Amino acid sequence: MEFDLDKTIIDLSKTDSKLCWTVRDSVEGVQIFGGIGSGKTSGSGRFIALKFLRNNYGGLVLTAKHDEKELWTEYCRLTNRLHDLVIVEPGGKECFNFLEYESSHIGVNSSLTVNLVQVLKTVIRAGQDAGDSSKDDKFWQTALDMLLANTIDLCLIAYGRVTVKMLYDIAQSAPKRGITGAGIQTLPKEDPDNPTAFKKAFDVAMDNIQNQVKSWRSRIPSHEYQAIKTDDEFTRLASEALPDVRRMDFIVNFFNDTYKNLADKTRSIIDFNLLGFLYNLLREPTYSLFCRYASTFVPEDSLTGKIILLNLPVKDYHKMGKDCQVMFKYIWQRAMERRRVGENGRPVFLWADEAQNFLHEHDADYQATARSSRIATVYISQNLPNYFANMGGTNANYRVKSFLGTLGTKIFHANADIETNQYASDLIGKAYAVDTSKSAAMASEFSSSRTQKYSLEQMVRPEELVALRTGGPMNKFIVEGYIHLQGNQEKDEFNHRKISFSQTVIP
Ligand SMILES: Nc1ncnc2c1ncn2[C@@H]1O[C@H](COP(=O)(O)OP(=O)(O)O)[C@@H](O)[C@H]1O
Ligand SMILES: [Mg+2]
Repeated sequence: MEFDLDKTIIDLSKTDSKLCWTVRDSVEGVQIFGGIGSGKTSGSGRFIALKFLRNNYGGLVLTAKHDEKELWTEYCRLTNRLHDLVIVEPGGKECFNFLEYESSHIGVNSSLTVNLVQVLKTVIRAGQDAGDSSKDDKFWQTALDMLLANTIDLCLIAYGRVTVKMLYDIAQSAPKRGITGAGIQTLPKEDPDNPTAFKKAFDVAMDNIQNQVKSWRSRIPSHEYQAIKTDDEFTRLASEALPDVRRMDFIVNFFNDTYKNLADKTRSIIDFNLLGFLYNLLREPTYSLFCRYASTFVPEDSLTGKIILLNLPVKDYHKMGKDCQVMFKYIWQRAMERRRVGENGRPVFLWADEAQNFLHEHDADYQATARSSRIATVYISQNLPNYFANMGGTNANYRVKSFLGTLGTKIFHANADIETNQYASDLIGKAYAVDTSKSAAMASEFSSSRTQKYSLEQMVRPEELVALRTGGPMNKFIVEGYIHLQGNQEKDEFNHRKISFSQTVIP
């Protein structure tokens, strides 16, 4: 199938022949703002969604409310795309095993451990409260990375595989300060009749390492073996020959030293966030959806036109719904980034109403390359403070605005939020306008040509965004908004338009 990047999606040619919003514009990202009931969902959102579906985009839909499944089912019905809709939901037939998927997508510069650390820490960090001061604490981040990497490596060395249950049990029973002395043999000191998951994994891993070393030793030609003078040299050679030996060395040092000696506060933050997340994954319905069974679909299905909808709305499933959707979103984004656009140019969309729920720390990076991987991101949210609250932390204002800068198109519907309206007004910018008040006052004294005074004024004043039409019968089902295209001056001298969407016409 051929996909034309210059195909028009929003046709504004009736008002201005030069302004058409195309597939190319769509993959530069869209942000829709508007107050509750301003027509985000039923106005611009609906219009764009139907257009994407009609143009055979594949996609991923994240959900905040339970009615979004019905909404998208209706959109797919209207555009004859029902056969492409993959609904992932509790009690449904679809599931995605993220560990199995990550095991089978190991790139040149990665390993299962690297992949899993990236995915898990991104989700865990996205799930932390914006106000949590440890969120920006580099020390804490490093400790979390190391705990994840060492726990995963320990699983792999001991059992040759990783499950969420193993990670949870091991991380949960990792030795605490004061329990053990120094040295491998004394770690961990505990009830020998009832070893913890950590102790079991640790012993199996140690046996495994010893077997590897024995077998390696037996393969060394005797004259080379004779030449080894010290234990240290033997250990060094073994760890050069056997990657697991080196990894085990890190594991021992980490659990015996670094982790055990972390301050209680740091450790409890890690326990709370990591164990909390793993615990949620082990509970239903997420366990069956993301851990238990073999995958029935993969993110790459979007590239063949599937529309994957995660029906775990945040309003109903809270943190669990949010974490799982952020996790799938991030895995999906990584998959889309690996695509070869030359072989398959199908655009895909990433759709999130109440988008502030689904942001993570790498979003800005993915947005920067979304155009080349043809991902049309559509984020819908009421206002800037929503983003501040979720992206928060230090420099929230700068972070949010620079992130919004990576989305090429903004649509502003009616809004009572002063900050968002001011942002819209500033973004649209200023233009020289005839200053009518002055020319009127001076009209009697000077000729009109001399009274033409120009002043630089906001093209759209913040208060103009308060009174836009919001659909429904009172407005004859018309939703109004301002659309702003970033860096589009060459196409058109103005970078914005006031546009309206019908809630009833099917585009
Ligand atoms: N399909 C529809 N037909 C007519 N009116 C609608 C429809 N859907 C929503 N509305 C009304 O239009 C207004 C905008 O709704 P909506 O798009 O849901 O706003 P938002 O998503 O910005 O909160 C509301 O007053 C709502 O009651
Ligand atoms: Mg809505």
